[in-house]
Amino acid sequence: LFAAVEMAPRDPILGLNEQFNADTNPAKVNLGVGVYYDENGKLPLLKCVAQAEAQMQADPKARGYLPIDGIAAYDKAVQELVFGAGSAVLAAKRVATVQALGGTGGLKIGADFLKRLNPAAKVLISDPSWENHRALFNNAGFTVETYPYYDAAARGINFEGMLAALNAAAAGTVVVLHACCHNPTGYDLTPAQWAQVVDTVKARGLVAFLDMAYQGFGEGIAEDGAVIQQFLASGLDFFVSTSFSKSFSLYGERVGALSVVCATAEETTKVLSQLKIVIRTNYSNPPTHGAQVVATVLSTPALRQLWEDELAGMRLRIRAMREALVKALQAAGVTQDLSFVTRQKGMFSYSGLSAAQMQRLRSEFGVYGVDSGRICVAALNEKNLPAVAQAMAAVLKS
Ligand code: LMR
Repeated sequence: LFAAVEMAPRDPILGLNEQFNADTNPAKVNLGVGVYYDENGKLPLLKCVAQAEAQMQADPKARGYLPIDGIAAYDKAVQELVFGAGSAVLAAKRVATVQALGGTGGLKIGADFLKRLNPAAKVLISDPSWENHRALFNNAGFTVETYPYYDAAARGINFEGMLAALNAAAAGTVVVLHACCHNPTGYDLTPAQWAQVVDTVKARGLVAFLDMAYQGFGEGIAEDGAVIQQFLASGLDFFVSTSFSKSFSLYGERVGALSVVCATAEETTKVLSQLKIVIRTNYSNPPTHGAQVVATVLSTPALRQLWEDELAGMRLRIRAMREALVKALQAAGVTQDLSFVTRQKGMFSYSGLSAAQMQRLRSEFGVYGVDSGRICVAALNEKNLPAVAQAMAAVLKS
């Protein structure tokens, strides 16, 4: 039965974890996967999460099946976070939100639904994009192409190229957009550029699918979610996938959501019924624990405040690590302009290093980043940073 099965390639991001775990170099540093580690190099258990869990344990509940679309209080909390508690679109019941298995799960539910809705549509992702975007939409049956995004020479965004590609796209094309903290480049559009993107999506009849996996890691919760308000103001129907993996440090709980903004309450009910079929035929219904934790934190004012403070702490520490990395690289004799590292937003820095340089970093120094040149700045700390900077400087200078 399996004689003809070929060996699949390692996942470009999670495959690095396997390689890292097998590496016996005691000085190894994992800057591959997008995970936040604290100043001691530890994966944090947020205080707000621990307190919510203590509250839940004090009143333990049996674990029945959840509704197909998840915990109602969780879906409501997601909607209020993403669209704003007093949002007119929520009052008009124009958003269908379902609990999903992380942000990836939200993307997949949306992709499967879109494929049923418009099987001939193409999907456009940014060049470059999160490695899994192409694979995920391909596996949902779509042809995936790219729109220009990263401008290597300018260390920024090729915005003219991006707009031209959106303008040339056929009506119905699904455009995957990173709401904030672009993965992998760290370069985000300005509000004025977003306004032009929204106008183009509207004028060309495109379908926007916003991937929001890093809300709170760029400028702040509201600032990072501001693009959602721009899409709402346009009156367009659109998709948003949400992840709490990073913002709650709940990676292994797979807590995310998909929200679909529709034209009317009646349409929303029908869309929700279709999303439920996608979920039921994939994994039946979602798990309880992580979503209950997030719902408890978001709906309890003191815990919510604690979460916002802890998230701000992570955001500020990443910023400090960006500055420290630039200084350490300069001190190690790198003369090129590195100011781009502090302009980038979120967990990642697109370092500009080639695949060969990234492989050298791994094999010679035990510093693991993605072959695209992406490094996770959120995994740096004062202890591992000097060695990382030395390794990067050695590779950059030779
Ligand atoms: C990443 O880009 O490293 C994260 O989103 C984790 C993942 O699943 O790839």
